[in-house]
Amino acid sequence: MKRIGILTAGGDTPALNATIYGAVVRANQLKVEVVGLIKGFNCLFNPRVPHLALNPLFQTIPELDPAIGGTLIGSSRDFVDPEKKEDLDMVVDRLKKLGIDGLICIGGEGTLNGLQPIAERIPAVLAPKTIDNDLGLNYPHEPDEWLRVSDPSVKGGFRYKRSQSRSVFSLDQIVNYVTPGYATAVYVSASAIERVRTTAESHRRIAIIEVMGRHSGYIALGSAYGRPDLILVPESPVDVEQLAERVKQIYDLQKSVVIVCGEGIVDSQANELGAAIKSSDPAGNLALSGAAEALRTRLIQLIGDNYFRSYRRGDTAKEAIFTRKVGHTQRGGRPILFDRFHAAQLGAKALEMLLEGRNNAVSILQHNESAGFHVEGFDANRLRDRWGLIHARYMHPDFYDAELMKPSRSGINYLLPIFANAIGDDDLEHIRQTLFAPGNLLQPYHSINTDVNKRIRFLSDDMV
Ligand code: F6P
Repeated sequence: MKRIGILTAGGDTPALNATIYGAVVRANQLKVEVVGLIKGFNCLFNPRVPHLALNPLFQTIPELDPAIGGTLIGSSRDFVDPEKKEDLDMVVDRLKKLGIDGLICIGGEGTLNGLQPIAERIPAVLAPKTIDNDLGLNYPHEPDEWLRVSDPSVKGGFRYKRSQSRSVFSLDQIVNYVTPGYATAVYVSASAIERVRTTAESHRRIAIIEVMGRHSGYIALGSAYGRPDLILVPESPVDVEQLAERVKQIYDLQKSVVIVCGEGIVDSQANELGAAIKSSDPAGNLALSGAAEALRTRLIQLIGDNYFRSYRRGDTAKEAIFTRKVGHTQRGGRPILFDRFHAAQLGAKALEMLLEGRNNAVSILQHNESAGFHVEGFDANRLRDRWGLIHARYMHPDFYDAELMKPSRSGINYLLPIFANAIGDDDLEHIRQTLFAPGNLLQPYHSINTDVNKRIRFLSDDMV
């Protein structure tokens, strides 16, 4: 392979540039040209096919900095519909016109779902990314546990549900232990929780902090590092009455409570607490908003104004209970060392896999006690259920103690290797040197897009 394409698809993460960087550095060593495709699959639906050379003469372009969050080649939630054969042919034809012999997609489970039909036309592999940490398996046989039931009300006509697990869970069995972006999202969320805590204490308030993650509770679980009092995850239905009682007990003791909730939490009837709006990404994912607000409304009703008045801590429950979303801050900015390092390794591994002739495969980050973290290649079909679908990984129930509403011993054991040395000295030095740099006040922000724009070429340019 002489020239490969690379694209970033789906929601961004802080570690995307690091993954691209890892692939490009390895490509330089192996004398392979890397073409960056602008804005994910969107690039291939554009007849001009905007792209840029990421390593002309096998030198990495200076704009590609693994310590900068986001993606210099842009991302979008556009995807190639496997049912639309003409689109697939068009996309692959355009790749071939660019002289591309293989494709690396940096994406999550949605992108991997769409990879197979592309891989039937041109070699394609995936390097994983997602702050949600939901690409992978709790154990190798997990895909076999999915059942599907006919349901004309949903797109595709089927609903998928889990059957009872027949596997004994062990951390060593996890496939793709953690995805790049997750550690930084937890770092941001835990820091936010620490900060909200002191204001809740000072003003005798109850804070509900919502973190992302869709239907997977990993970010909420990891936010335990910020020491909230209670954590609610989507995998464990919330009994709101019981929660209100726990909140009152804690409030009696310490005059403040900090609750973290994952955006996809459900009540005892399995109804999503937050509103769900259909989004258009490949997995048909739901965009979730408002779990914390919904919870606040229920707690206001259940706890009531008199409770706060009796303590002389504000007049109304509305005043005392507030919500904050960590929001997109958990998905942006500089990646911490753990993400940078492993994202780059996963990018390099994806490139090697293409050159070794692997197709429809994914580079994964494995962990066990003897070998620590290491990268491997994994056939994407092993992530598919018997109907060919890849499901988002749920946080294993063993990781969560539903009584304590905190990580269980197993959850703690899961988190420890990721976060033990997750922050590098340079991460701290970076804050010291850059945040209050006087130049920040003098100079406008210089966008990476401005520089990359000067390098963008179009299909017609290449042909002349
Ligand atoms: O999948 C990543 C993610 O950040 C989810 O955690 C979140 O629900 C969603 O993307 C938000 O997407 P958007 O940025 O498009 O609103």
